[in-house]
Amino acid sequence: MQINRNFQKIESSYLFSNIAKRVREYKAAHPDKADDVISLGIGDVTRPLAPAVIEAMHKAVDEMAHAETFRGYPPEYGQDFLLEAILENDYRARGVELSKTEIFVSDGAKSDCGNIGDIFSTDNVVAVCDPVYPVYVDTNVMSGRAGDKTETGWSNIVYMPCTAETGFLPELPKRHVDMIYLCFPNNPTGMAASAEQLKRWVEYANREGAVILFDSAYEAFITTPGVPHSIYEIEGAKTCAIELRSFSKTAGFTGVRCGYTVVPHDLKKDGVELNAMWARRQATKFNGVSYITQRAAEACYSPAGKRQIRETIDYYRKNAKTIYEGLKDCGFTVYGAVDSPYVWLKTPDGMGSWDFFDLLLQNMQVVGTPGEGFGPSGEGYFRLTAFGSAENTEKAVARIRAYFAK
Ligand code: MLT
Repeated sequence: MQINRNFQKIESSYLFSNIAKRVREYKAAHPDKADDVISLGIGDVTRPLAPAVIEAMHKAVDEMAHAETFRGYPPEYGQDFLLEAILENDYRARGVELSKTEIFVSDGAKSDCGNIGDIFSTDNVVAVCDPVYPVYVDTNVMSGRAGDKTETGWSNIVYMPCTAETGFLPELPKRHVDMIYLCFPNNPTGMAASAEQLKRWVEYANREGAVILFDSAYEAFITTPGVPHSIYEIEGAKTCAIELRSFSKTAGFTGVRCGYTVVPHDLKKDGVELNAMWARRQATKFNGVSYITQRAAEACYSPAGKRQIRETIDYYRKNAKTIYEGLKDCGFTVYGAVDSPYVWLKTPDGMGSWDFFDLLLQNMQVVGTPGEGFGPSGEGYFRLTAFGSAENTEKAVARIRAYFAK
């Protein structure tokens, strides 16, 4: 018997599990401060679900209580009512025509990001932005696509630095790559990509025969006019891109679990439709999303649902502004926050990002995420999220202001 040795190459715990462990240890060592700790670390939402969503869930639960309306296994790829709402609101409203068979409803973008690798050869060359959402890299390590860990990252992964020097946007790789993970608005830097910038990627991918895995989990936070919400707003994207979407950050579903992945029929490699491969994969390894959850997701698109969700996004957006301005006033160099719930800052005096994590936790009881956890180019940066309560966000910023005013 042999185990998958790739797991031995990877750090034993996931970035956010590691942070949670450090916070638990701090609280145990400082019981008097334990209740003061404010988490602006993991991007987990804090506002309750929209009333329209709750109402839809209650109704769906009641349906499950009666033989006439009870449902067993859901359709593998999503209920028609949800697929239609997605097509109409997320795509047709933006001038993008897709069909129901191109949408695959799932339990969230994180699972799909990890699982999508099943349909690609382990010989493919992967390109990621650096810093990057760690799931893209870790899942490729697990499947054996990443090579070995070196001082500068994984030997077979092409890192595309996104730092202040590059305007936080990746440059086209100088060598051929096969799978390109792009996330815009970006996690962790909070920066958005314009249509012009995405067009360059679509042209590159079509030219190279590469596939873009486009994560647009944060699209609901876009405010800048003209910034695309979907990669399919770019001409030519249907022949080179898979899009991953989530209700987590849009509608507070981090605990409910729902997302979807779009695989256009026009996306073919070696004469094979990737859509058919993903459909086969999902039908075998996934049993669909619960009826109650899909009714909840559908309710996000009702007029009341849309309005209520917009209010919640505005609430987080205000937090982002509070953090951004508070840090700026303290003299920090700050990025993001405009089209994103993330604020990305340069650590003071070239401080290491884990040292800055300790400084904030020990002295201000504020938890953030060290940039280094997102990749080599994240060193010297730090991420704070706007997903806390307004009260805690203001408290955290007041503590930061007080400390750095010293
Ligand atoms: C983050 O903090 O980067 C996200 O919450 C992680 C995720 O969405 O899985």
